[in-house]
Amino acid sequence: MDPMNEMTPVTDTVTDPKLAQDPASKPAKAVPALPDAQTVTEVKHWTDRLFSFKVTRPASLRFRSGEFVMIGLMNDPDPKTGKVKPLLRAYSIASPSWDEEMEFYSIKVQDGPLTSRLQHIKVGDEIILRPKPVGTLVHDALIPGKRIWFFATGTGFAPFASLLREPETYEKFDEVIITHTCREAGELTYGRELIESLKTDELLNEVIGEGFWKKIKYYPTTTREESAKMGRITDLMRSGEAFADLGVPPLNPESDRAMICGNLAFNLELKDLFENTYGLEEGANSKPAHFVVEKAFLD
Ligand SMILES: Cc1cc2nc3c(=O)[nH]c(=O)nc-3n(C[C@H](O)[C@H](O)[C@H](O)COP(=O)(O)OP(=O)(O)OC[C@H]3O[C@@H](n4cnc5c(N)ncnc54)[C@H](O)[C@@H]3O)c2cc1C
Ligand SMILES: NC(=O)c1ccc[n+]([C@@H]2O[C@H](COP(=O)([O-])OP(=O)(O)OC[C@H]3O[C@@H](n4cnc5c(N)ncnc54)[C@H](OP(=O)(O)O)[C@@H]3O)[C@@H](O)[C@H]2O)c1
Repeated sequence: MDPMNEMTPVTDTVTDPKLAQDPASKPAKAVPALPDAQTVTEVKHWTDRLFSFKVTRPASLRFRSGEFVMIGLMNDPDPKTGKVKPLLRAYSIASPSWDEEMEFYSIKVQDGPLTSRLQHIKVGDEIILRPKPVGTLVHDALIPGKRIWFFATGTGFAPFASLLREPETYEKFDEVIITHTCREAGELTYGRELIESLKTDELLNEVIGEGFWKKIKYYPTTTREESAKMGRITDLMRSGEAFADLGVPPLNPESDRAMICGNLAFNLELKDLFENTYGLEEGANSKPAHFVVEKAFLD
């Protein structure tokens, strides 16, 4: 089954016969023990539209940095049947594969079925986390190269928050370039603080090598609010401005590899640019090549 369409699997349906008879009655202990429950250990709100949180990690869960899982909450009981179903959505794992906890970086959609509720979680609450990681933004889907580019818009930064803390990224590449385009400056803060924190991360500096973070070039841009660099990354690449700012040549199949995670139009525009201007070929888990793409959300 496509995990992205696995919204309300019937296997987790819990039926309370009393509720089925009397939909109005809501017993105090109607909430079933959550299947695949994990406990929230930290919540940080970054803007009125963005927050991040950490949860405990299932002991048996193995994943590759850059992958996503389905997470969610239990829906309220169906008023007619009393059935309680999980409401799940795809989420990139923002923490690296070696971490004891799991981190997520989330949008708050005010009328969104999941995030209208998820945005209110607190430390100690439980969420559902299906331990079936999948995704294309993994090192296995790329052939070796010299420089890796991570291109994100909005919450598309999440898989790169994982890959920026993954030792394999620095073992495989001499240079790591991360571009992040958002509407407003405040939407860059999570990514900026995460990259800044790498400089003082004792564990990573010890494991990967002292000063590993010097391989990173960070290129944040905004489109609707004044910031140090304005404009869509796609336009800044077409004009050559991004390459001049970064001090690197335009992408080429010999040295450059890339991962893309943003809105659909962004993904399609970059894919077109890569294939038709820079001569890069799209890869997959089953057929590694020069670049890989994943949607940051479904439009
Ligand atoms: C592979 C994959 C990975 C994803 N990873 C993440 C992630 O790491 N963090 C995250 O916040 N979301 C992520 N999403 C989106 C996520 O699955 C949900 O859509 C999101 O949590 C909103 O859920 P909802 O039920 O509140 O609203 P939905 O009904 O799912 O969405 C309502 C509308 O809100 C907008 N929207 C949804 N998600 C976003 C977003 N992330 N940024 C901007 N607008 C959005 C879209 O216009 C969408 O049609 C991912 C989606 C996919 C397909
Ligand atoms: N961000 C907000 O402040 C805000 C507030 C309320 C509601 N919303 C709604 O939330 C949804 C998602 O908004 P979002 O801001 O998270 O994500 P988004 O609309 O996907 O935009 C994120 C960034 O990607 C840029 N972008 C969009 N298409 C691109 C392309 N083809 N090539 C290069 N860059 C591209 C945008 O630039 P442009 O600005 O040039 O499009 C923006 O800087 C939208 O439906 C929006 O209406 C957003």
